[in-house]
Amino acid sequence: MMTRSHTNKINEAPVLFLHGFPFNRSMWQEQIEFLSRRGYRCIAPDLRGLGENRFAGDVATMEGMARDVAALMDELNLESAVICGLSMGGYVALDFVKLFPERALALVLAGTRAPADTDREKAAREQQVQTILRAGMVPISIATVPKLLARRTLAEKPDVVKDVRNMIIKSDPRGAAAAQRGMAVRRDYVADLAEITVPTLIIVGREDTIRPPADAEFMHRRIAGSQLIVLDDAAHLTNIEQPERFNAVMSEFLARL
Ligand code: MLT
Repeated sequence: MMTRSHTNKINEAPVLFLHGFPFNRSMWQEQIEFLSRRGYRCIAPDLRGLGENRFAGDVATMEGMARDVAALMDELNLESAVICGLSMGGYVALDFVKLFPERALALVLAGTRAPADTDREKAAREQQVQTILRAGMVPISIATVPKLLARRTLAEKPDVVKDVRNMIIKSDPRGAAAAQRGMAVRRDYVADLAEITVPTLIIVGREDTIRPPADAEFMHRRIAGSQLIVLDDAAHLTNIEQPERFNAVMSEFLARL
């Protein structure tokens, strides 16, 4: 767990970051450094079976991860926090706000979507699970890195490409398989969107082909008062590809809370 605390601005809302698949808390490094400097308390756990979080069974459900987040908040004596999730972290955030509406002060949903998987998508996930369990994380890193990042990131930011690849390769294959299976059985969040009453910021990369802008627009239309930001020269990993713009948008949003 990464947690930093600054006591000079105790009224600032704590921000809890939920990473995507198959990554870990380190993907939020730039946001944690930036917001910590501005007095925000930032918390970024590794989700079930990923990073340094232990493997806990063959299916790591989004609801289970959301309950882990609530338990972590209990441990930290945090009644509520701004919940920021990217992609799989966004699914966890949507489960969290449904289960514990009073504990989410606001939501940041990046590169995520509300509808459940189709049967075809579920089958593709299970196929990937079989590859991961048979051959580890390298084949998926080779197949997915080009889809995760925008053209300019791939061409001009070799360190980002390397970090993303390393993050994938370092994941425990059993944990990644469990998270993939958990995503396949996640709830459909569409009906929940109209019930979200907290301030919500939706961020998407213009070049995201995994969770494209249409998915973000869909959520934006259904979450009353939500703000939608589309970042250029970014695909699925907006916070890593365009950290300065992501941080600026997020800190403006937080300042308005
Ligand atoms: C992620 O980045 O967390 C995943 O791409 C989400 C998904 O596969 O639905």
